[in-house]
Amino acid sequence: MKRLHSDIYIHNLKSHIFVLIAMCLFTYSSSSKIGETCGTCDAGLTCQTCPANGNTRPRCSRIQTLNPITKVKGLPFNRYSWLTTHNSFALAGARSATGSFLIAPMNQDDTIGDQLKNGVRGFMLDMYDFQNDVWLCHSTRNKCFNFTSFIPAVDGLNAIRAFLDSNPSEIVTIFIEDYVAAPSGITKVFQGSGITKYLFPLARMPTKGEDWPTVDDMIQKNHRFIAFTSKKSKEESEGIPFLWKYVVENQYGNEGMQEGVCSRRPESPPLDLKSRSLVLVNFFRSFPNRSQSCADNSAPLLNIIRTCHKAAGGNRWPNFIAVDYYLRSDGGGAAEAVDEANGHLTCGCDNINYCKVNGTFGECDVPQISPPPPAAAAPPDANQQAPKKNQTNGAYIGRTAKMMQLVMLVLVATTFLALL
Ligand SMILES: *[C@@H]1O[C@H](CO)[C@@H](O)[C@H](O)[C@H]1NC(C)=O
Ligand SMILES: *[C@@H]1O[C@H](CO)[C@@H](O)[C@H](O)[C@H]1NC(C)=O
Ligand SMILES: *[C@@H]1O[C@H](CO)[C@@H](O)[C@H](O)[C@H]1NC(C)=O
Ligand SMILES: *[C@@H]1O[C@H](CO)[C@@H](O)[C@H](O)[C@H]1NC(C)=O
Repeated sequence: MKRLHSDIYIHNLKSHIFVLIAMCLFTYSSSSKIGETCGTCDAGLTCQTCPANGNTRPRCSRIQTLNPITKVKGLPFNRYSWLTTHNSFALAGARSATGSFLIAPMNQDDTIGDQLKNGVRGFMLDMYDFQNDVWLCHSTRNKCFNFTSFIPAVDGLNAIRAFLDSNPSEIVTIFIEDYVAAPSGITKVFQGSGITKYLFPLARMPTKGEDWPTVDDMIQKNHRFIAFTSKKSKEESEGIPFLWKYVVENQYGNEGMQEGVCSRRPESPPLDLKSRSLVLVNFFRSFPNRSQSCADNSAPLLNIIRTCHKAAGGNRWPNFIAVDYYLRSDGGGAAEAVDEANGHLTCGCDNINYCKVNGTFGECDVPQISPPPPAAAAPPDANQQAPKKNQTNGAYIGRTAKMMQLVMLVLVATTFLALL
């Protein structure tokens, strides 16, 4: 009887130990941090490779941005940076809402609604007259066709309005590439989507380079939807702010992607013109290339915001960072670039994660061990900061230590089992 009892006891113990080992193995392999080889990744990350820059090893890569307002509160709107998608509506693999196939470049992997969930807060939307309405089209010669039309503009705006409804502390900006000639065409689609009630009024836009209202003020007054048009006449005819009266931006397309160069887009005032309070950095190719975008959205993206910072006369970090295929990168990606811009803008640190709670400007908390930067590090230059190297080592050491712990545990457990 006694013997039986002890057998059962040992049997239970063995199964407990097995469960313990299994759990350790599971936690070791189930969820990985940014930059680590994957399997499965922590929330806000996906497992992806980037053959375009030699990263053929699948690694956890960021797809969600940090909302800077949750980290450093209450600053003027122009003291924050927002992830922006170029041709946000041009969903890869989609069909036109007319039912037609599409012959049009495609720029993103998910819908405007999903982009909002991942923290995208700026949207570049090409609007055209089409089918007695306004559509989001990717077309040529000012004319939309069934095979270049994606969705009615009101559908895209509905997604944004629904998001603003359910997230009363969020602010969204759109940049309209405006081909709409119909009288009040844009005003009508705003009204049709119910987004008009959130419009930030034209009269409140700073025109002399002064600070914007604080985000708290904008949230409290429900002025949470900022819309800019590329057509100058619309400011007078419909009260829609003309983009380059308020924003400076660099050249887009291949021309804007030369390393070390940040020139202005021809329509934009000079990048260092201080009477414009907002800065937009474009970084996407003339013809979107999904496989290349993971490389573009990694180290080169970090480089361009630093280059443009200088081109904009120093101390002007981008308020909007616009990319294609924002989900693609070799690690930190566009979200990391936005964190960096937000660090400089909100607290004077290299990353918003280094801002101290209630700290003074320039007071930073740089962690010793943190996730490694993208594997394709920037070519060594003066901008490369010392902590970067240690971070990589830190994460590597952290992971090795975790592995060693596991090996030790398995050894101890098997020895113990053998003794039984
Ligand atoms: C375009 O799509 C509409 C359906 O939305 C259809 O009625 C029309 O015939 C199509 N036009 C052409 C030229 O195919
Ligand atoms: C797209 O990018 C990939 C990876 O860099 C490259 O091999 C390919 O040639 C590019 N395609 C085009 C059409 O440029
Ligand atoms: C930061 O400041 C706010 C407002 O003054 C205060 O409520 C909060 O407790 C402070 N937090 C810390 C960590 O000091
Ligand atoms: C980084 O590591 C080097 C030695 O490898 C050390 O001298 C330096 O203090 C470290 N920097 C930080 C910020 O930990």
